Amino acid sequence: MLADLWHAPSVDGAAGTSTIGSSEACMLGGLALKRRWQHARRAAGKSTEKPNLVMSSAVQVCWEKFCNYWDVEARYVPVTDEYPVFDGHDLADHVDENTIGVVAIMGVTYTGAYEPVASISQALDAIQQATGLDIAIHVDGASGAMVAPFLRPDLVWDFRLERVHSISTSGHKYGGVYPGVGWIVWREEKWLPEDLVFRVSYLGGDMPTFALNFSRPGAQVLLQFYLFLRLGFEGYATVQSGLQKVALHLSHGIGAMGPFELVSDGSDLPVFAWRMRPGYTENWNLYHLSDRLRMHGWLVPAYPLPDAMSDRTVQRIVVRAGLSLDLADDLLEDIRTEVSYLDKLESPMPMEGTGPLLARIGNGDGRDERAGVLLAGSGEHLAARAFLDDAAALEHDHPIAQLVDDAQAVSPLGTAG
Ligand SMILES: Cc1ncc(COP(=O)(O)O)c(C=O)c1O
Repeated sequence: MLADLWHAPSVDGAAGTSTIGSSEACMLGGLALKRRWQHARRAAGKSTEKPNLVMSSAVQVCWEKFCNYWDVEARYVPVTDEYPVFDGHDLADHVDENTIGVVAIMGVTYTGAYEPVASISQALDAIQQATGLDIAIHVDGASGAMVAPFLRPDLVWDFRLERVHSISTSGHKYGGVYPGVGWIVWREEKWLPEDLVFRVSYLGGDMPTFALNFSRPGAQVLLQFYLFLRLGFEGYATVQSGLQKVALHLSHGIGAMGPFELVSDGSDLPVFAWRMRPGYTENWNLYHLSDRLRMHGWLVPAYPLPDAMSDRTVQRIVVRAGLSLDLADDLLEDIRTEVSYLDKLESPMPMEGTGPLLARIGNGDGRDERAGVLLAGSGEHLAARAFLDDAAALEHDHPIAQLVDDAQAVSPLGTAG
């Protein structure tokens, strides 16, 4: 059914397996890429010592695990302001004869945005023309492979692209099953090297197994099968478009609030993220909003974007079945209430990672040394106050670094509180 959903050239010719989730499925996909590359290299009498895998720096941690556990060099294409999603730009600088494959993500964990698999594939076509390197794509469709076929049937991201050799997904995300079930499908059996598949007889008959686990719970597999039959294509399309409607409603509501700007709006996956408008306030940030929403029972995490963009904090909502429009309105109301509370603050909330710092401040020659607590605000220009032990509260309206420079010698004594 999945091979059909993802447009495998021949459903009978495709191969696949169930897993515990996308992590295991991605690792199996990575292993197949690596083994196929090893076979080709050995056949050509070339070294297999330095395999690498190319992907966006916004990949989910399972890819870092794969590279770490199976000794593959992880090559990250950074996400930046110029290229907020990996689209194949500058790919030629990252791939070489040791590249086992390229990962494309249908539904970036951080923002929900789809990476344009077709552009990545075109970039690899151009590389093949120029260098002869024929590099395959694995699509990590943890969420999107269960959403895009229903909401964006015309978006070409799957086996319609010849370079896409394998696709993985989580049944327990938008497949609608409780954890843990995932799936991986190879477009043709030949892309799953036979020597990775074990055949066991001790359960009776001949049972092929390609999985990291042997025993696994079967209930989720049955439930996935049941849902496919019960909902069918139309049913899944109805469920997913209902979720998208709620996500768009929420994102428009949040985007319209003064402090925020949207990073994504839920039109790819029913997942979206936003950030604070630069310069909006020094008194609170998204971590504080997250904490305050928790008091209402909402779990709306705030976290930094990856690598080159790690100075940006975003907050994300993942809309799952059960989050109705009514509930979404309650959530919007709670966000408005908490924003209005935070906006009334007259001084900064304690900030994560920049919280009170016990320090010894002096002029460097041992004279005039005073222990104190630095209370840091947020942002580049911190409203820092040094409460010194002589009770003279000095106000500094410049970065802590400058405060430290002014004082000439500061030795951190640890954090307070
Ligand atoms: C893009 C992506 N890949 C892989 C995973 C791992 O999925 P699982 O939790 O099913 O192992 C996730 C989970 O958030 C994800 O978003």
